[in-house]
Amino acid sequence: MITIKDKQFVPYIHHEQIAERIATLADKLNADYKGKNPILIAILNGAFIFAADLVRHLTFDHEIQFVKYSSYDGMDTTGDVKELIGLSIDIKDRDVIVVEDIIDTGTTMYNILPKLKEKGVKSVEIAVLLMKPGKLQVPLDVKYCAMEIPNEFIVGYGLDYDGVGRNYKSIYVVKED
Ligand code: IMP
Ligand code: MG
Repeated sequence: MITIKDKQFVPYIHHEQIAERIATLADKLNADYKGKNPILIAILNGAFIFAADLVRHLTFDHEIQFVKYSSYDGMDTTGDVKELIGLSIDIKDRDVIVVEDIIDTGTTMYNILPKLKEKGVKSVEIAVLLMKPGKLQVPLDVKYCAMEIPNEFIVGYGLDYDGVGRNYKSIYVVKED
């Protein structure tokens, strides 16, 4: 068990299982993007560890960019997406893969996708480590998802609780008291 601020968390997804799922996801991407040269757009902060592990499995040429939006405060999604760090390169006519840590309500992705599409991309797909399908509130077409989980709050492997806990190798779930 680990303690972060006022909450306790228990082991949930072991890092070996995370690694297996990412390798499987990478296989799909490697098949679909063979011979293409997409741009991966990873969403800071949460996706930094997933993106780092994912790209080391990729066998097609690609570039990676990091962007940052603000939407999540403590344990609730505010629904408001602000751009904090934007794209520094032209993505017109490019295949884009958005790399995200977790899709909860889907609000963040739902707000980001039109911003990318209006830049004239050739294609855009989502590659996400985790999804909570039971919490999705908007229509989202997620082509690449490593794992689905129930409506639980988790930390570790890049995911934080109030800014803390991203460093854990495995994923932990909040222990309700
Ligand atoms: P959405 O906009 O509701 O889909 O929220 C997506 C963002 O909320 C993710 O990029 C995460 O940063 C954050 N988030 C959602 N669920 C969790 C969780 O269980 N733990 C930590 N962060 C989460
Ligand atoms: Mg995030």
